[in-house]
Amino acid sequence: MRYGRSLTVRQVRNGLGIVAQRPIAKGGVICRIRGRVVNAATVWGYWKRDRRRGENCFRFDADHYLDPEGEIGAWANHSCAPNARIVRGPRALWLYALRPIRRGEEVTHDYSTLLGADDVWTLRCNCGERKCRGVVAHAGRLHATVLRDYRRLEAIPDFILDTL
Ligand SMILES: C[S@@+](CC[C@H](N)C(=O)[O-])C[C@H]1O[C@@H](n2cnc3c(N)ncnc32)[C@H](O)[C@@H]1O
Ligand SMILES: [Zn+2]
Repeated sequence: MRYGRSLTVRQVRNGLGIVAQRPIAKGGVICRIRGRVVNAATVWGYWKRDRRRGENCFRFDADHYLDPEGEIGAWANHSCAPNARIVRGPRALWLYALRPIRRGEEVTHDYSTLLGADDVWTLRCNCGERKCRGVVAHAGRLHATVLRDYRRLEAIPDFILDTL
């Protein structure tokens, strides 16, 4: 699956994932994560009918989630050493490069940066990074140095920091 000229979706370490088709500069916009903004009750409904769809939803604010079904965000994998961060815009989420990304490299973000203290979801991580945390949980569970670095990089939206 091709998304514009810069991104493709293909098999990676953890199922399908987003792969850069051209180099992306540090600080550059990677893509907009489109989707439907839904409330928590809707996400619970997804969980009951289709766990995968529920798990794919991105936290969008204190009371809402962004459902990326059918859009590129549905293929965004987690890494404990991510090369991208999520930025909240008025009606969408955006992926920005935290460092230069090579052609052929998978684009990943850290799921914990979008999990507030009231998000109970966890993931057994298989990112393979030297600093892999093993379990991905909410941002309040991050090691103090990781949290400090993410704050400095503005990799955690305010509505998540507000829950910690
Ligand atoms: C938004 S989807 C990403 C697309 C997914 N790889 C696929 O093929 O459908 C998120 C799901 O991918 C898997 N995943 C993503 N990153 C992972 C990681 N670092 N370790 C283990 N599983 C991961 C988990 O099943 C997670 O719920
Ligand atoms: Zn990991």
